[in-house]
Amino acid sequence: KTNQQWGGRFTEATDAFVERFTASVSFDRRLYNHDINGSLAHAKMLAKVGVLNAEELEQIESGLEQIRSDIQSGNFNWSVQLEDVHMNIESALTAKIGITGKKLHTGRSRNDQVATDIRLYLRDEIDLIAAELTRLQEGLIFVAEREADTIMPGFTHLQTAQPVTFGHHLLAWSEMLSRDYSRLLDCRKRVNQSPLGAAALAGTTYPIDRAYSAELLGFEAPTENSLDSVSDRDFAIEFSAFSALLMTHLSRFSEELVLWTSAQFNFIDLPDRFCTGSSIMPQKKNPDVPELVRGKSGRVTGHLISLLTLMKSQPLAYNKDNQEDKEPLFDTVDTIKDCLKAYADMIPAITAKKESMREAARRGFSTATDLADYLVRAGMPFRDAHEVVGKSVAYGIDTGKDLSDMTLEELQQFSDTIEQDVFEVLTLEGSVAARDHIGGTAPRQVRAAAQRAKQLLASR
Ligand code: ARG
Repeated sequence: KTNQQWGGRFTEATDAFVERFTASVSFDRRLYNHDINGSLAHAKMLAKVGVLNAEELEQIESGLEQIRSDIQSGNFNWSVQLEDVHMNIESALTAKIGITGKKLHTGRSRNDQVATDIRLYLRDEIDLIAAELTRLQEGLIFVAEREADTIMPGFTHLQTAQPVTFGHHLLAWSEMLSRDYSRLLDCRKRVNQSPLGAAALAGTTYPIDRAYSAELLGFEAPTENSLDSVSDRDFAIEFSAFSALLMTHLSRFSEELVLWTSAQFNFIDLPDRFCTGSSIMPQKKNPDVPELVRGKSGRVTGHLISLLTLMKSQPLAYNKDNQEDKEPLFDTVDTIKDCLKAYADMIPAITAKKESMREAARRGFSTATDLADYLVRAGMPFRDAHEVVGKSVAYGIDTGKDLSDMTLEELQQFSDTIEQDVFEVLTLEGSVAARDHIGGTAPRQVRAAAQRAKQLLASR
């Protein structure tokens, strides 16, 4: 016969392989703190409504606290026979305090228990992740202000387009993260609801006070429907969607950093401590950190698909399938925390190779649009101006000259509207300074945008 806590109706022991196959303790034990906190709140609520007496509550509380310190000090014997974190802790409680331990599970099921635990766990992790996101944005804004005047080529189609400032480019990254941050906080609202008291699926016959246990656990409110409470994992999917998009952003930053550190671009330097070498090629310094972050976006996006697929055919209410929510969720949390830490540490340590960025911006006719705008200001329709500048560029390609290298006479071959003052708009500084409006790349605007961004971070 089985000696499982649920073994009353069983006539033979669980197959040894099935025991291992159905167990989750190897990974869900990381929820122990939240499981204990959930149990403490449940017990307190049971005492408040008279299901437990004061002495029983006291025994349960001190037993659970002892178990918490046993686990923390490594003196806890996790058992696969006891299946999951919940039954491991409950059985240890009964071993410690005797029959009162068996009363803890009154009016509760592992179904509402596990849903409560994951929400408590995720809420804590969300708060850590939000702080790390903010630290990364602070780093980006710090470098953006430092590099507000640093000119680099801006690209479309990865072809030189128009000059921009490096600070402006970094603030573009920070904007992506601002949206991620607001998605994360929005997700937190739906994480922070208490399923405790939904019991197995239908609620319970005891006179429970769900609002009280929700309040003890810092939840905003009890969830509305017991069937939904034990089967909903939307909050985990939302968190994964946030994470996948965050990793998509970090992967895009990574791609640019990898390109920029190459000898061909030569725009930036990453400190040696964020790079590694080659075991065969002595000259190599590889940008491993951004490469790995780019690579890790794959597993995080994969976990989102796993969770969506996990949920899509489940009938109400709880199904054992749900046990499969934990590994993707935990790995998502671990991965994005590591990637955010790597980036938050690394970004402030980036150095810009200003001369080389500037040289790249000078090549590729990046001020061609400025010349067209100059002609338009002198009265020429934009399409005609486009044509004139196109011809000047063709001449530049033939003769190996940038627009700003040509003499006034050379430029005037294409239009007699061009005067000496054209050279003011053909410089890189003139080009960026002219884009002087909210969201534009002018150094003055970059500084103002950095100020606004800092104020937003300070108000978080
Ligand atoms: N280990 C389970 C899980 O992760 C806990 C809930 C089990 N409930 C059940 N009725 N078997 O989902």
